Amino acid sequence: MATEENGVSDRSFLLGKKTDLIEAKRTNVTVGERDLIIIHHQGTFYAMDQHCYHAGGSLLNGDIEEFDSKLCIVCPKHKYKISLEEGEGLYKASNPREKNPQPRWYSKGIKQRVHKVTEVDGNIFVTLSEVPGWIESDYYQTEKGREELKKA
Ligand code: FES
Repeated sequence: MATEENGVSDRSFLLGKKTDLIEAKRTNVTVGERDLIIIHHQGTFYAMDQHCYHAGGSLLNGDIEEFDSKLCIVCPKHKYKISLEEGEGLYKASNPREKNPQPRWYSKGIKQRVHKVTEVDGNIFVTLSEVPGWIESDYYQTEKGREELKKA
């Protein structure tokens, strides 16, 4: 079991100084063998897998927009929307079975693995998600994931 103090545990990794990461806005880092993107947006830090769950595109230059009251990064490759907070995949559609079909937002569930960001004394740490099982973005972040993808 990881010991934890101030939200930082022995599974946390120092990313750098808060001021530097704020200035950068987006930072890509490799933690262990995992590629992450660290985002500072409107006063909040977010960390998620860097390669999009759909087909592995880099999220580094994705626009950030609000959809269905959720801040999302839009993958530059095919425009998939991923919520920054939870890694939820969102899409807009209308249900043809409804009487007057109106387009609305739907969730595909958690598709992109997100990680915890913690600030301690002006330094920023990331703690990798321990959510068990495979999340779709896992297949693109590590060699092991890419091997699994080839088997599928
Ligand atoms: Fe991201 Fe297709 S790779 S939307």
